[in-house]
Amino acid sequence: MLYLKPGTPALILAPMEGVTDAPFRAFITRSGGFDYCVSEFIRVSGHPVPEHVFRRDVPELAHGSKTAAGIPVQIQILGGDPGRMAESAQNAVRAGALGIDINFGCPAPTVNRNDGGATLLKYPERIESIVRAVRDAVPAALPVSAKLRLGFDDPEAIHENAKRAEAGGAAWITIHGRTKTQGYIPPAYWKPIGVVTRTLSIPVVANGEIWSLEDFKRCREDSDSIHFMLGRGALAVPGLALQIRKELGLEPAGSGADLRFPDLPGARAWQEVFRKYSEVQPSEKRMKQWARYLHSRNTIDWWDRIKGLGSTSEILTHLGQR
Ligand SMILES: Cc1cc2nc3c(=O)[nH]c(=O)nc-3n(C[C@H](O)[C@H](O)[C@H](O)COP(=O)(O)O)c2cc1C
Repeated sequence: MLYLKPGTPALILAPMEGVTDAPFRAFITRSGGFDYCVSEFIRVSGHPVPEHVFRRDVPELAHGSKTAAGIPVQIQILGGDPGRMAESAQNAVRAGALGIDINFGCPAPTVNRNDGGATLLKYPERIESIVRAVRDAVPAALPVSAKLRLGFDDPEAIHENAKRAEAGGAAWITIHGRTKTQGYIPPAYWKPIGVVTRTLSIPVVANGEIWSLEDFKRCREDSDSIHFMLGRGALAVPGLALQIRKELGLEPAGSGADLRFPDLPGARAWQEVFRKYSEVQPSEKRMKQWARYLHSRNTIDWWDRIKGLGSTSEILTHLGQR
């Protein structure tokens, strides 16, 4: 099975809409930290998503659905209509997708009002029918997975929802250990993930609030899982993924693994890293967005000095000066 093998530990880069875009995926997978990435969600609303939209939004599809470092990118779709989700998944496969993930966790009001994401956590039977429709629509060799929160407002909902996703044919599920109502407020609850891990016969990926090796170890213990997904922690503490891999007994993933992150917060130490990022990321806004994540966990001490700069080259010049 592509992406995730039952019994083999894995570390996955979370989908983060507006953050983990193709340039970021190209960059971060050069560190060897991740076994696969999940694309930002692609929304299925009034019509099935056509092939060209998948190709535009996930340019890796033109390269075997892998980043330049050879790390697979799974396509994530979001929506509430089984037929349109199934047709969209078929279009994604025609565009080159190697697998499909279904988003049942997005808390955004616009998405929820339009019958997608976390709102579906209130309807276990719909989770099953959406997963089944997508599963039946794509070739059996391509995995279909689901990403869930613990519930919409009731964290107990995960138990029924997880069983329904499995019954619908999910090859694995990822659980973000919070309800929709809990949004992103810490903590994440990993123990209920453990109950699901022990109940289902498919793999369960544990996700939420892993910012340090200590968090990871507690998450591993509570979730009883060997599969983990890193979101904001992957940006704020980019060296963490390799530390976790070591703990899991995993070698760096992909070809090359030529990106290392400095232990020092000073600007000069990071200049080379940002220069490599600028090779793939044209947007200085996205560059500053990443710096803000680094700053949020005190990984760097120079955010205040670059936040007002207006171009990538100014940022790089500034980093070299300090
Ligand atoms: C800015 C942002 C965008 C996100 N976009 C998506 C998305 O497109 N699809 C999805 O399934 N989850 C999305 N998530 C949720 C993350 O994948 C992840 O489940 C969540 O951030 C918890 O993990 P973390 O604590 O490691 O960040 C997003 C989260 C953030 C903060």
